[in-house]
Amino acid sequence: MATITFDDVTRLFSSSSRPAVDALNLHIEDGEFLVLVGPSGCGKSTSLRMLAGLEPVDSGRILIDDQDVTGVDPKDRDIAMVFQNYALYPHMTVAENMGFALRLAGTDKAQIAERVAKAAEILDLSPYLDRKPKALSGGQRQRVAMGRAIVRQPRVFLMDEPLSNLDAKLRVQTRTQIAQLQRRLGTTTVYVTHDQVEAMTMGDRVAVLSDGVLQQCASPRELYRSPANAFVAGFIGSPSMNLLTLPIEPENVIAVGPQWLRVPVDRLADPPHGDSRRREVQLGIRPEHIEVGVADGVPVDVDVVEELGAEAFVYGRAHLANGAHPIVARVDWRHPPEKGARVHIAVDMEHAFLFDPTDGTRLR
Ligand SMILES: Nc1ncnc2c1ncn2[C@@H]1O[C@H](COP(=O)(O)OP(=O)(O)O)[C@@H](O)[C@H]1O
Ligand SMILES: [Mg+2]
Repeated sequence: MATITFDDVTRLFSSSSRPAVDALNLHIEDGEFLVLVGPSGCGKSTSLRMLAGLEPVDSGRILIDDQDVTGVDPKDRDIAMVFQNYALYPHMTVAENMGFALRLAGTDKAQIAERVAKAAEILDLSPYLDRKPKALSGGQRQRVAMGRAIVRQPRVFLMDEPLSNLDAKLRVQTRTQIAQLQRRLGTTTVYVTHDQVEAMTMGDRVAVLSDGVLQQCASPRELYRSPANAFVAGFIGSPSMNLLTLPIEPENVIAVGPQWLRVPVDRLADPPHGDSRRREVQLGIRPEHIEVGVADGVPVDVDVVEELGAEAFVYGRAHLANGAHPIVARVDWRHPPEKGARVHIAVDMEHAFLFDPTDGTRLR
């Protein structure tokens, strides 16, 4: 069991002018399941590889418990890693694959057998221990890869997109199994994914990265309800939050049809080019906080209706004073509007967010 601390950790590849990971500060509690999420190239794998010792750290420190492991050899960090390409040895049986690291470490045979049997039981792999990987399904192979990590009984599990090679349905099943397994073992885990749904469903806390910079680290609920900036607001949630750039009117308000919202203009950052006039702000509104079919509402031309069974989403163009804005709204699945129809919407201003268009900071 262990805590993990990233203390101002930076990695700058010589081929690049910008750090892949930029002054990362993150503390992970003992037994916690922390998910690192963000778009491709944002620095997730680099962060994980630095923690594993597979990538050098250019500045800052990494601690496991209170031990500075920044310069420690990967094999001495007591970490087990599961990758996307988990590459099982094809000529070895499931049991041999799972016990391989222990055999290399010189663990005695009886103990290897015992640990492998126990891991196989946890992972529902007991009937397959004598099979070769090619005689397993994708999901079973993935569990063998998990088993290889579990038998080592490490202080920390690191997982880098371990479900990417599975089809959609199996991914959903397996993510639940991994989350349950982690809770059962109680081993501190850092899990990397680009999939925000995976992040939200699996993590105790979720750390959102963009361009090597940590944007916010919080529980899934807090990320959704209280995003720190427009990036997190747009990245977390499906369909994404609507982000509309609107002019600030006299009296420091924005208008959405007949509705208006006051903007805390004193909190806006100075615009970059020294222009002191405040002109625009970003309104953030989730699809479920738009009401469709409101008399006197903002007109919306419906382009696409997505019916998902229990809910439906309307994609269209909202006609506001400063032009047409793409918009998505959740509607009652029993009465979705027709594609091509014109509907009228109102925004639930109680649940609206405001973001500074200069740097995305949340104002409200
Ligand atoms: N070995 C490397 N050499 C140079 N640049 C790299 C190397 N590995 C990753 N990068 C760059 O660092 C950034 C972060 O990469 P990575 O951590 O793999 O992102 P992610 O896992 O979030 O997709 C990217 O811009 C990537 O191109
Ligand atoms: Mg990666």
